[in-house]
Amino acid sequence: MTIIVISGGLSHERDVSIRSGRRVSQALRDKGHDVVESDVNADLVALLGSVEDPVVIPMLHGGLGEDGAFSEVLGVLGVPFVGSRSGPARATFDKSIATTAVHAAGLAAPRQLALPHDIFRELGAQSIMTAIGEQLGYPLMVKPSRSGSALGATKVSSADELPGALVGAYAYGPMAVIEQFITGTEVAVTVLEDADGLRALPPVEIRPSSGVYDYEARYTAGATRFVTPAELPTAQLEAAKNLALAAHRVLGLRHLSRTDIIVDGDGTPWFIEGNVAPGMTETSLAPLAFEAAGLDLGDVFAGLVALAGR
Ligand code: DAL
Ligand code: MG
Repeated sequence: MTIIVISGGLSHERDVSIRSGRRVSQALRDKGHDVVESDVNADLVALLGSVEDPVVIPMLHGGLGEDGAFSEVLGVLGVPFVGSRSGPARATFDKSIATTAVHAAGLAAPRQLALPHDIFRELGAQSIMTAIGEQLGYPLMVKPSRSGSALGATKVSSADELPGALVGAYAYGPMAVIEQFITGTEVAVTVLEDADGLRALPPVEIRPSSGVYDYEARYTAGATRFVTPAELPTAQLEAAKNLALAAHRVLGLRHLSRTDIIVDGDGTPWFIEGNVAPGMTETSLAPLAFEAAGLDLGDVFAGLVALAGR
């Protein structure tokens, strides 16, 4: 069997993907596995055909990777791969769909409106601000519906900040989501599948020194403090883990996911988003959860490769 780690791609998270891919490849090599690394390019199909029993780890973040496009190709080619299948990945990557699905399953998710760019342009900013303010109140979070690493995401405290935040979100795609801002403790819960089934790993608490977990706070060493397990009462840690497990199941995910959660002042965990290709960089959250659970990164991925190739 040959493990092929795919990273790079064409999304805004290309750099993050390359860092994730390198780290996972090295961790697998350290455990004695054969690993071939590749970007997404025209030579890829030939590469898949040239190695014996390929199993692919798509370490792609953002659009044209994490959105199910790449796993659809692998599915069509019949190549086994680690991670969620195309349909669930597509639904999860789109925040407007994922939040609606999680909410419909009775789990706590912020109230949210999805606003296409065309409608924003047609109706004009003023009427939209008034309608949104009436429905959701402030503060709000504005995000691109399909993106990652907090790119294009802005907290909005009043109506006059809303148009600018929407324009920022539309820079990443034609659909924006506007949602109720949940105040509380930000945690990330990684869900991992092994031969015994699914389990939620210790929640990682995120404490950015700037107060905002933006792109810089995510990928600059030392810019964020991570506390694992999160400093929350045991019952709240369990509730966050249960929410991540439930979201993983409701969204139909496979092998590995990370659910980003805010635990509010009453101890209720709220689903913020699901990630089908969680970052594996030196400052990413899932590797911290593996470490807290006593798991080695190379062993985790070797286990997932074995599941995928079954
Ligand atoms: N979108 C980045 C890679 C993450 O969720 O970790
Ligand atoms: Mg994300």
